[in-house]
Amino acid sequence: MEDQEKKIKEKLNRLGESLINQLFMLIRTLKIHQIDNEAFSRPLESLRDTINRIIDISGDARIIGVGKDVYLNGLRIRVKYRNIDCASFLVEQLAGKDIGDLTFTKHIEVPQLKQFLVMFSRQAKDDTTAKQTSKLPGISIGTYRKLVDDLGGGQHLLDKKKYALRVYTRAIITLKAHVEALKRGENGLPGRKLQRVIQEICDIASGETNLLIGLASITPPLEEDQLYYHSVNVVLLSAGLAQRLDLPRQEVAEIALAAYLHDTGMAYIPREAINKSGELTPEERVKVSRHVLQSLRNLIKSGMLENLRIMPLIVAYEHHLRYDGKDRPPGATPVNSVSQIVSLADSYCALTSDKSWRKAYRPDEALRIMLSEAGKKFDPLLLKAFINLVGIYPIGTVVTLDTGEIAMIFMNTDQPDRPVVKLLLTSDWKKPGPLRHYDLSEIDETGEYVRSIVGAISAEEFGINVAKALLD
Ligand SMILES: [Fe+2]
Ligand SMILES: [Fe+2]
Repeated sequence: MEDQEKKIKEKLNRLGESLINQLFMLIRTLKIHQIDNEAFSRPLESLRDTINRIIDISGDARIIGVGKDVYLNGLRIRVKYRNIDCASFLVEQLAGKDIGDLTFTKHIEVPQLKQFLVMFSRQAKDDTTAKQTSKLPGISIGTYRKLVDDLGGGQHLLDKKKYALRVYTRAIITLKAHVEALKRGENGLPGRKLQRVIQEICDIASGETNLLIGLASITPPLEEDQLYYHSVNVVLLSAGLAQRLDLPRQEVAEIALAAYLHDTGMAYIPREAINKSGELTPEERVKVSRHVLQSLRNLIKSGMLENLRIMPLIVAYEHHLRYDGKDRPPGATPVNSVSQIVSLADSYCALTSDKSWRKAYRPDEALRIMLSEAGKKFDPLLLKAFINLVGIYPIGTVVTLDTGEIAMIFMNTDQPDRPVVKLLLTSDWKKPGPLRHYDLSEIDETGEYVRSIVGAISAEEFGINVAKALLD
């Protein structure tokens, strides 16, 4: 009996994931083509079949968006990592139309689906879509506001961010306590605490990309804590990249641990050398480069070798080495791919942070600098995957639009120059109402894009806190 139930749940999950992807594709294509276009006939038939198969199993197909998750008939649909953004997009679209609960109550046919999608994709500023769509036979709609009320004021949405920030803070505190203990001459790592931190970070890395990047953009309130914030940001991006590469969870955790501990030796480098505003003398450079050996010493002291946890040692040793091997004698062993993953996250975090000798680069500038090192400092394939994770205009980049508005990249889509953006300032530079997002692939009646990116600008110049704006 239990087996039977499990099988049904698995089947529903598979159908739910197809439903999310099919709706995502159709809604996006509708922004470019008319519903009668040939491009729609197959996808519409597939969507009809998916919905009808769900109805055959459960009697109806009720879709609810909560937070960034989609629930089908009460079952939270676990989507593959590459489809997470499709699910978030769908939830946002539903919420944007004030649709909290969309139910197909009986078998549906293609003409009804067409009608539904046309109504759904129409630009509606209020809840008219919800009202109109609910008049279609076989489709029942509950408003988003009602759903949020039912769930207790959108608590789920808030909880996810709160949880992520709690994990982030715990990761900082644990690392700081560990490094301070090492400096006092104490050995060992708080094993259980460490395991918990790594597990929680891996959970966040497997979730929404914008939450992950939002966290990784947090800057330290105190300069002396820079190392800990840097390390945690590097873990988030390394684990995010590992997830993007579809690596097994065990390997993601191993990479996260190595990234977390890659730079502990920096805590021993004289502050004058780290904070110097001009170029370092050769002597100072040697001093800074010694952090690698000190990190290795720390890891050995912490029992990594005894416990056969070799990866953190490899990564601590290799994370500044070049992919092309030009910094090593000919024939030297190539840099481990895990070190390369951490090196990408490490470089991106370093470039996008303020240093005593220069201001932080904008995310897109940082990527451009890294791209100029493809095949030299960085593995070109991993760099490509990293850019895929953060986007050409990485999440958090502040851009001006051709409408004069200022917005922030919120979610990347399959069209690299047409992401979903969050409005920060209106064209007359006023703060907009809450939750204004634009999908830049949206076109008007003349076939022109409604909004396009003109270029990236510095968030700081406009007094914008990237992490805050993404996590708000
Ligand atoms: Fe380092
Ligand atoms: Fe680093």
